[in-house]
Amino acid sequence: MVILIPNISTSILLLPKPPSKFPPNPQIPISKHQSLILFKSKHPHNPSSQIMSSQQNKPSTKPFKFLIYGKTGWIGGLLGTLCQTQSIEYHYGSGRLESRDTLIADIDAVKPTHVFNAAGVTGRPNVDWCETHKVETIRANVVGTLTLADVCREYGLVLVNFATGCIFEYDLEHPLGSGVGFKEEDSPNFVGSFYSKTKAMVEDLLKSYENVCTLRVRMPISSDLTNPRNFITKITRYEKVVDIPNSMTVLDELLPISIEMAKRNLTGIYNFTNPGCISHNQILEMYRDYIDPKFTWKNFTLDEQAKVIIAPRSNNELDTTKLKTEFPELLSIKDSLIKYVFEPNRKTPKTA
Ligand SMILES: NC(=O)c1ccc[n+]([C@@H]2O[C@H](COP(=O)([O-])OP(=O)(O)OC[C@H]3O[C@@H](n4cnc5c(N)ncnc54)[C@H](OP(=O)(O)O)[C@@H]3O)[C@@H](O)[C@H]2O)c1
Repeated sequence: MVILIPNISTSILLLPKPPSKFPPNPQIPISKHQSLILFKSKHPHNPSSQIMSSQQNKPSTKPFKFLIYGKTGWIGGLLGTLCQTQSIEYHYGSGRLESRDTLIADIDAVKPTHVFNAAGVTGRPNVDWCETHKVETIRANVVGTLTLADVCREYGLVLVNFATGCIFEYDLEHPLGSGVGFKEEDSPNFVGSFYSKTKAMVEDLLKSYENVCTLRVRMPISSDLTNPRNFITKITRYEKVVDIPNSMTVLDELLPISIEMAKRNLTGIYNFTNPGCISHNQILEMYRDYIDPKFTWKNFTLDEQAKVIIAPRSNNELDTTKLKTEFPELLSIKDSLIKYVFEPNRKTPKTA
């Protein structure tokens, strides 16, 4: 039993009745947060009919096939490896995000069941690059992301979009150290950098796309401590670091969850971090205790940091209740760091 809400153009939003009556697949529980989206596509070979059947209490007739953007990137590369490990068929998109025809060509060739967007410009060596490359940033992160979302909608495809949680900063209602995090429905309050400003704009516009799952990633960390993009690697190499508690994303735990979210056809916004906060110094203390007992570091203040960067950086805590309700096994940031990063890389002897 479903409720049909006709939409103006080509899509129909289907809201599930109580989960007990509407399990799409015995192995895939339906969340109370979940919006199920079915589309009437203009395209005859649209694979969404197979997605629909999996949502309507029948086993899917078609195995999952993912189309991933961001082949040469950090998160895109890890996603491909995960798909391989899980024996999920996947293909990397060769199109450019802002070029609609190339995206359509990818979808026509691959005929995916789901699309993942881990493409976009993040700036090299860091987001300061976006301050001096505004048009390039808009082209990929704004025009590109919106074009991909629009094409996916036209094809009736769920798009899992790796976005950012760096669109908030601690404020009076969410003070540092209070444990009160920003929720999914909160409006961004940090536009201090051009990167964050454009990401906030896009997140807002994507709310109108009922096929998009927006994942707010923050300060990603992976078990590969040699990767210069890894937050831990970054702060161990800085001459001086600030010390501020933040929400962070342990990719080794969260990326498999993003795959599961696609399988469940979850859409809407999700704070995509581990529960709780951790500060720079707390991470560096763990690094010293697990990896290098001789490791030392120097702190500086936010004012001093401001002198060596161009754009201000966001510091915040995100509320992870929504994600934790969907995935109760999700570990706190500290436990996740120990399990996925520090124990597997341990170089110091265990103390009794
Ligand atoms: N890393 C972080 O600290 C962080 C934090 C929060 C959120 N995120 C978000 O997560 C996403 C992935 O991040 P990442 O760290 O994996 O990025 P990354 O390593 O910089 O990789 C970016 C990928 O995007 C591709 N790309 C860039 N512009 C494109 C375009 N116009 N069309 C098609 N592909 C394009 C790049 O391919 P080419 O080399 O071919 O251009 C590359 O494969 C980004 O949207 C980012 O904003 C990242």
